[in-house]
Amino acid sequence: MTDAPQLPEPLAQQLTDLGQQRLLAHWAQLEPAARDRLHRQLAGIDWPQVAGMRQLAASHDTAAALPVDAAWLRAANTPAGPRLRTGGPSPAGPLAASEAADRGAALLASGGAGVVLVAGGQASRLRCEGPKGIYPVGPVSQASLFELLLGRVREIAARSGRPIPLAIMTSSATDHDTRAFLSEHAFFGLQPEHVLIFQQGDLPALALESLDLLLDAPDHVAVAPDGHGGLLAALVAASGLDWFAERGVEHVATFQVDNPLAMPLDPEFLGYHLLADAEFSTQVVEKQQPAERVGVVAEHDGVHRVIEYSDLSDELAAARGPDGRLHLRAGSIAVHAFALAFLRRAAAAPDSLPLHLARKAVACLDGTGQLHRPAAANAFKFERFIFDLMPFARRVLTVEIEAAEGFAPLKNPPGAAADAPEHVQAAMNAQAHRRCAEAGVAVADEVVIELSPAVLTADDIRQRVPSGRIESPRVI
Ligand code: UTP
Repeated sequence: MTDAPQLPEPLAQQLTDLGQQRLLAHWAQLEPAARDRLHRQLAGIDWPQVAGMRQLAASHDTAAALPVDAAWLRAANTPAGPRLRTGGPSPAGPLAASEAADRGAALLASGGAGVVLVAGGQASRLRCEGPKGIYPVGPVSQASLFELLLGRVREIAARSGRPIPLAIMTSSATDHDTRAFLSEHAFFGLQPEHVLIFQQGDLPALALESLDLLLDAPDHVAVAPDGHGGLLAALVAASGLDWFAERGVEHVATFQVDNPLAMPLDPEFLGYHLLADAEFSTQVVEKQQPAERVGVVAEHDGVHRVIEYSDLSDELAAARGPDGRLHLRAGSIAVHAFALAFLRRAAAAPDSLPLHLARKAVACLDGTGQLHRPAAANAFKFERFIFDLMPFARRVLTVEIEAAEGFAPLKNPPGAAADAPEHVQAAMNAQAHRRCAEAGVAVADEVVIELSPAVLTADDIRQRVPSGRIESPRVI
C-alpha cells in the first residue's frame, strides 16, 4: 500500500499549514475511487475560509463575537407594519388591504412574481428517512410537504393565468432524493421548464476543542449545508437570478419546506411589498412569551435586523410595553419577498452574509476508524442566514400575520412537545375548520378535514361541498 499516489501540492501543503493531515489517515488504504472522492472533496474546500471559521470558533464565547451591537439592541424597537387581512398601520402610510390585494394579484397576473422553496436542511431533529419535503403531513391525505407546497404554487399560478417560476434549493443532504421524488410525481403538475432545482454549498464542521475538521467516512470529510443563507450564492452560481429575470420575474418570495401553511404568494402580502416599495418584506407573527425560540425583527435608526433568540438577553427578551405586549415581538417565520434587483445588489456585495455557528452533535470517525454518533454536541457547524440581508435593504417591511393562518413548522419527531407532525396536522385541520365555517359549511368539531392546495377561496369550498355539510373525514 506504500505506492498510493500522494495528495498533490499545493493542497497537501494547505492541509499541513492548518494541521489537518489527519484527514489523510486512511489515504493509503483507500481504493482509487475512494481516494479520488476524498481528493475532490478536499480540493473543493475553501481553505482560507476554513482558517476564518477557526478564528470565529475560537472567539465564539467572547462578547466581541456577538453579531449585534449591544447598544443597538437596547435602542431597538418592533417595526410597525400592516397586518394581513386587517390593513393595520404601516411606515409607508396607510396601506389599504384591498389595494394591496389588487396590486399583488396584478403582479401575479403579469408573471412578475417568482418563488424560492428552501429545502436543503438535514432535518436532524425530525430524524426522517430522506428529505423533509417528502414527509407525509396531510392530516387526511398523508400528502407530503412537497405535494402541498408545490400544489399551492400550481393552483395560484393557474388562477393567475401565468406560470410562477419556482426555484427549489436542495443540498448534498437532500438533492438526489428530492429530484427523484419530484420526477416520480411529475413535479406535482408544475411545468418542469418553470422549475429550477439548485444545490446549496456545504461547510465543514469543526471539532469543539481542537477546531479540527472531522472525517465521517475514511474518504469523506464531515460537512453540513451552509444554512438557508446559502441560497444567495447558490442561486447566483446556478444562474438563478438570470433564470428568474428571463421569465419576467421582478420580485421573488421565499419560504421553507417545513411550513405547510406558508403563504409566500399571498396577493395581499405581495401587494404590501409593492406599495411600500420595499426591497425586503417579511412575514412576522406576534411573539407572546419571552422563552419562545423564534428570532425577532427589530429596527433602530432606519436599520432592520433579525435578532436570534439566543442573542437576546433574558431582560431584553422579557421587556414588555405599557400594553403588556413584548417590546420585541415581531417573530420571524422565514417567509420573505425580495425585489430581484435587491438580490442582485446583495449578491455583488462581498460578505453580505456572515457565518453563524452553533454547537451540534456531528457523526464522525473515532480513533479506531469506527463511526461514532455522539449524543451531545461535539462540533461547531456553520451557517449563513438569509435574513442577514435585511440591514442592506433600503426599505424593509414587516407584515404581521396570524400564526394560526400561516405558521405550523415541522421540526420534531412524533411525540415531541411542540412542532411535531401531530401539531402540524392539528393546525392544518383547525385552519380547514375555520375556512369551512367562514364559507358556511358545517363540520362537526371532531371530524378531521384538510384543504387541498386547490382551495383558495370560500367559493371553492362551497363548490366542493354543495350539501353544505361534512360528516366524515375528507380532503376538500
Ligand atoms: P432548520 O434550521 O429548521 O433545519 O431549517 P432543518 O434541516 O429543517 O432541521 P434540523 O435543524 O436539522 O432539525 C429551516 C428551513 O431552512 C432549510 C430547511 O430545509 C428548512 O426548510 N435549510 C436549513 C436549508 O435549506 N439549508 C440549510 O442549510 C439549513
